[in-house]
Amino acid sequence: MAHIREPSHDPLKAWKLIVFQTEKSGDIFSLLMKTLAICLIASISLFVFFSTLSSQSRWLLQCPECDGVIGYSGDKSELHHHISGEEYEKTNISHIIFGIGGSAKTWKDRRHYSELWWKPNITRGFVWLDEKPAEYEPWPEKSPPFQVSEDSSRFKYTNPYGTRSAVRIARIVSESFRLGLENVRWFVMGDDDTVFFPENLVSVLSKYDHRQMYYIGGNSESVEQDVIHWYSMAFGGGGLAISYPLAAELVRVLDACIDRYSSLYGSDQRIQACLSEIGVPLTKELGFHQVDIRGDPYGLLAAHPVAPLVSLHHLDYVKPLFPNGTQLESLRSLISAYRVDPGRTLQQSFCYDLKRNWSVSVAWGYTAQIYPWLLTAKELETPLQTFQTWKSWSNEPFAFNTRPLSPDPCERPIIYFLDRVQEVGAGETLSSYKRFVAEPVKDCDRADYISAFLQTVNVSATNMEPHEWKKAPRRQCCEIMNGTDGDDGAVQIQIRRCNLQESVTPP
Ligand SMILES: *[C@@H]1O[C@H](CO)[C@@H](O)[C@H](O)[C@H]1NC(C)=O
Ligand SMILES: *[C@@H]1O[C@H](CO)[C@@H](O)[C@H](O)[C@H]1NC(C)=O
Ligand SMILES: *[C@@H]1O[C@H](CO)[C@@H](O)[C@H](O)[C@H]1NC(C)=O
Ligand SMILES: *[C@@H]1O[C@H](CO)[C@@H](O)[C@H](O)[C@H]1NC(C)=O
Ligand SMILES: *[C@@H]1O[C@H](CO)[C@@H](O)[C@H](O)[C@H]1NC(C)=O
Ligand SMILES: *[C@@H]1O[C@H](CO)[C@@H](O)[C@H](O)[C@H]1NC(C)=O
Repeated sequence: MAHIREPSHDPLKAWKLIVFQTEKSGDIFSLLMKTLAICLIASISLFVFFSTLSSQSRWLLQCPECDGVIGYSGDKSELHHHISGEEYEKTNISHIIFGIGGSAKTWKDRRHYSELWWKPNITRGFVWLDEKPAEYEPWPEKSPPFQVSEDSSRFKYTNPYGTRSAVRIARIVSESFRLGLENVRWFVMGDDDTVFFPENLVSVLSKYDHRQMYYIGGNSESVEQDVIHWYSMAFGGGGLAISYPLAAELVRVLDACIDRYSSLYGSDQRIQACLSEIGVPLTKELGFHQVDIRGDPYGLLAAHPVAPLVSLHHLDYVKPLFPNGTQLESLRSLISAYRVDPGRTLQQSFCYDLKRNWSVSVAWGYTAQIYPWLLTAKELETPLQTFQTWKSWSNEPFAFNTRPLSPDPCERPIIYFLDRVQEVGAGETLSSYKRFVAEPVKDCDRADYISAFLQTVNVSATNMEPHEWKKAPRRQCCEIMNGTDGDDGAVQIQIRRCNLQESVTPP
């Protein structure tokens, strides 16, 4: 297994690694002594330095580097990191191996989802099939390459209502690991109907040190699902990420573990159960979306959490994202915006037009809403409940708060959908949102509504830098430009970082 470690491209780093490994196999004790000696010298010189400063500056008599070494737990890459003080290179798309759970018979119905985000020769990984596909000769160029899973019929599966493909799909992580591909930091599992947003996945994963053991993903939106399948589980359709060292541990226990948990339903439950034996909990990231809901996902997507959009799932089971197209057309529209500004996609901003008493919410790249009255930010960031729960099609409960969508058209927002997005100048975008209605509905005929119906919402924004998402999250602000007359038929909105002492506060 050691040969699959990420090789070093930096000759200096490689040299250090060799020196280090020689030292380690030679004499751990002398290495520790050397490190302690270095720390001691550093401590003394720091002490002398700080003693000359004001007596008010307090510092602890210890060397900052010592902690990691003295508390050395046996992870050699960690030790290496501390000794050299060297940062690893930024995580990029090439460090991720995708493992998509598919089947030969359904690939033709599902492949369009993977083909939306898969980038041949850039994204790495495979769709894992139950058998060699008879239909495709050659295999579609835009699909991820396939592998045929090992036979898993020897494993126990005793769940009365699931299917035993869960065992095969749980083992994708170990089969991917055993391929021994180079330069792997993360294994990311998904379903054949998961749509990943790879740039955002990279910006989320690059927040974490891949040399440590991480299990990252999200829950179900429906409480009934979280109760049955576990809150502490990353739902597989939303996608889950396992760092390389954790995958190495998981592979060791997985097969025996699968038999121990034969009564569980899904592959994702098996993975969680085995990870709980290792003791690694789920790190939740809010951009992974299992989409365990029924009906219209609009309310959920129009109030996305302040986190990058990483995945969408179950898109065959909900209404199209845009009311005037198929689901596939809808995804293409969303992705056309995503390509221009991945990090901003679906991010909400709120502003008030105080001359008209309007509240405006923009979910960038997807939709805008105008309310001809003033709502609080707390209301605006709460999803409108346009959907039901997954299993029982109930109105509650969800793993987040919702607000009702009134049947009275005079209490609903006026909704606009992305029409187009264009780049204007370097790193600037103009996106416009238009009102269109799929089915004829009764509109509110109050004057304030009628004046808003006529509007296009034009939004300008600067591109969200990926490093924005390494900072503490904060919703960005917006302002309505050229105020108020609306004679030009467009509401002009500028999204920007909030200023100091700025908040979305109604008068
Ligand atoms: C990703 O990072 C590796 C270093 O680990 C580098 O060699 C490679 O060129 C990078 N790839 C891309 C696509 O940026
Ligand atoms: C991917 O790489 C292979 C081999 O390097 C090449 O034959 C193929 O044309 C490439 N595909 C695309 C879509 O770039
Ligand atoms: C906006 O609301 C405030 C407070 O409710 C009210 O005083 C004002 O007249 C309203 N303005 C318009 C243009 O409706
Ligand atoms: C839906 O309507 C919008 C706005 O008019 C338009 O840009 C988009 O192309 C339409 N989509 C389809 C699939 O017709
Ligand atoms: C509208 O705003 C633009 C820039 O935001 C400004 O240059 C222009 O003068 C404004 N027009 C009016 C009529 O206020
Ligand atoms: C709004 O944006 C569209 C392009 O997306 C543009 O054609 C239109 O002129 C803009 N409207 C105004 C008033 O700027």
